[in-house]
Amino acid sequence: MKVQRVSLWLLGTVLILCSVHTRGLRRCLISMDMHHIEQSFQGIKRAVQAKDTFQNVTILSKSETLQSIKPLDVCCVTKNLLTFYMDRVFKDHQEPNPQILRKISSIANSFLYMQKTLQQCQEQRRCHCRQEAINVTTVIHDNYDQLEVRSAAVKSLGELDVFLAWIDKNHQETSAA
Ligand SMILES: *[C@@H]1O[C@H](CO)[C@@H](O)[C@H](O)[C@H]1NC(C)=O
Ligand SMILES: *[C@@H]1O[C@H](CO)[C@@H](O)[C@H](O)[C@H]1NC(C)=O
Repeated sequence: MKVQRVSLWLLGTVLILCSVHTRGLRRCLISMDMHHIEQSFQGIKRAVQAKDTFQNVTILSKSETLQSIKPLDVCCVTKNLLTFYMDRVFKDHQEPNPQILRKISSIANSFLYMQKTLQQCQEQRRCHCRQEAINVTTVIHDNYDQLEVRSAAVKSLGELDVFLAWIDKNHQETSAA
């Protein structure tokens, strides 16, 4: 009797774990403590944003571009923006200050980890890119190309908080989901 109850309890736990797991997977959520990355960024935000001389333009353009993303496009846009930061921004930026560089490297490491998570989603064909998501990515790359490469990289680094806040908001497992 006791054995039976224990095994039922185990089965229940396994089922709950599985459903949490598949729900996270199905929606391709990044299950990562964003707080750590946000803290890394807070440490360099002021220094990076002070170097940004083109206050009149924006690359991620928080109002139009990111905020209009539909839940269906979250995975694709996240994946594309992680690639944007890894392949362009972090590579184009030349940081003379070793302390700031260390924080940027730490953020890049976290991004690499997130990229791997989303790559698995993509391999399982659960990270579909609709035209809307492709267009948003194109707009961001076009904005980047408008500026000279160093300025573009500094500006995009300074806008990391926009991207991090957006990830935080869109990769939350809400109780209603
Ligand atoms: C932004 O300001 C810079 C100089 O501060 C100027 O050269 C550039 O044309 C401006 N861009 C826009 C889109 O207004
Ligand atoms: C994507 O952009 C193209 C060209 O700018 C436009 O014609 C098309 O309507 C856009 N598609 C969506 C779904 O936003």
